[in-house]
Amino acid sequence: MDPLELLDPRAVQVIQELEERDRWERSQDPPPEDRIYALHPDSARFLHMLILAGKYRRLLEIGASVGYSTLWLADAAHRNGGTLVSCEIEPGRVERNRANVRRAGLHGVVSYLVGDARQTLAQHPGPFDFVLIDADKTDYITYFELLMPKILPNGLVVADNVLSHAAALQNYLARVKAHPLYESVTVPIGRGLEISRRIR
Ligand SMILES: C[S@@+](CC[C@H](N)C(=O)[O-])C[C@H]1O[C@@H](n2cnc3c(N)ncnc32)[C@H](O)[C@@H]1O
Repeated sequence: MDPLELLDPRAVQVIQELEERDRWERSQDPPPEDRIYALHPDSARFLHMLILAGKYRRLLEIGASVGYSTLWLADAAHRNGGTLVSCEIEPGRVERNRANVRRAGLHGVVSYLVGDARQTLAQHPGPFDFVLIDADKTDYITYFELLMPKILPNGLVVADNVLSHAAALQNYLARVKAHPLYESVTVPIGRGLEISRRIR
């Protein structure tokens, strides 16, 4: 079955609206401030499955936008008895995210760090066992280094767009693939996911 069939009908409704919106944006190319830049639907489904299989409970996403990835991650966190911390710099997107999460019935699961994640995360103690990085490509390494002490053993750090933005993320990939504390694999789903597992 499509993993979507596991979700509450309220969450399905919002997810389908956001998928429709994202498809429209990618065909019509509106200005950046009007776009939601949602994760690829295949990546969302794959990450939902990965979180359930790994029983991850302390989730973090960097780059929440209006809530497409938030809904998938929050649903998986909820099923595992966990929570999701969502980072977003644009206040307008945070408000739309909150409204979408509330409509989906997942508001008890998500808390927000509003502002520049390079600063808000520095103040957050963690720990996390699952992290999705889906923000400005220039900052991926900064997030990885900042989060290093806050990732639990066996925790996953997932970076989106490693195939669609291969040149911009070249240094990030080199860093995680050579890191002695991580095993790291490029998974060609959606726009390309780099999945890095902390080995101890
Ligand atoms: C690709 S979109 C995220 C899409 C989202 N994961 C989804 O699937 O719907 C990137 C988001 O990162 C946010 N962002 C960019 N730089 C940021 C920063 N320094 N701190 C927090 N959020 C940031 C942008 O405002 C934007 O909403």
